[in-house]
Amino acid sequence: MTDPVVERIFELKKKHNAIILAHNYQRGEIQDVADYVGDSLGLSQQAAKTDAELIVFCGVHFMAETAAMLCPEKTVIMPDENAGCPMASMITARELREKKKLYPNVKVVCYVNSTAAVKAESDICCTSANAKKIVASIPENEEILFVPDKSLGAYVSSCLNRKMIFWEGYCPSHHRILADQIVKLKSEHPDAKIVVHPECTSDVIALADHVASTTGIIKYASGNHSKEYIVGTEIGILHRLRQENPEKIFIPVTPLSDCPNMKLNTLEKVMWSLEDLQYVVTVPEEIAVKARKAIQRMLDLS
Ligand code: 13P
Ligand code: SF4
Repeated sequence: MTDPVVERIFELKKKHNAIILAHNYQRGEIQDVADYVGDSLGLSQQAAKTDAELIVFCGVHFMAETAAMLCPEKTVIMPDENAGCPMASMITARELREKKKLYPNVKVVCYVNSTAAVKAESDICCTSANAKKIVASIPENEEILFVPDKSLGAYVSSCLNRKMIFWEGYCPSHHRILADQIVKLKSEHPDAKIVVHPECTSDVIALADHVASTTGIIKYASGNHSKEYIVGTEIGILHRLRQENPEKIFIPVTPLSDCPNMKLNTLEKVMWSLEDLQYVVTVPEEIAVKARKAIQRMLDLS
């Protein structure tokens, strides 16, 4: 028997010509009703191309904001308006403007985990899936300021052997993943592959067999012959990893690496958001015009 909440969600989705987009960290039951589940890049690409009239965005605020800017003629709603990203809140547009004054010719690369106002102050956007490609597209003689994630920035910098100026932002959930925990797990599971997200600290990244975006981690695990994986990212990813690879074993580095904001969305809230058409996410046009350019430059290169 189908869950009545799920049934109602499907009914309302049809009524409103809606699509449900969910990030790989969402609760399993939300991923299961979504039309598309993916990483930040995949979600923005889906938002840009959908012909649905209503997008129910199950993720955090910056993701819904990005969708709203890419689809100005569509309505974008979030099931919980308080689902923010602490890293995105570690930089404001005003702080960024002040920093740019110190480096007048700098090119600003902003991680998509940032507000629309910060994107509007940036030259180009990136996600964890394309950060290396985006940075590599900027001529060597240009100085780069990478905001707000210092961990992703340091990872890209070491891969490309390219100096950059970093902002002091970070993801609290990924910084709870510790190198010592991985070393211990590896000694217990010597054949396991270690997969981590580039928001982790550099000592964690140094231990990894593979570093990738959330969808990149899922693709790696699906395409690899190993049976066991030590997973260094937010634990919501385990749902899809296990669902798509029932014969494999996925071991989270720590149960503490959960993102409470991602988990604010629940199946009931998805239903209520479709009932009430709330909470609508909008971006003032004067900000969206500028931020869209930074996002579009990224999508053109992806
Ligand atoms: P992805 O783009 O890899 O899905 O990452 C988003 C995010 O917020 C990671 O913490
Ligand atoms: Fe932000 Fe980290 Fe949560 Fe991703 S996992 S949304 S970076 S706080």
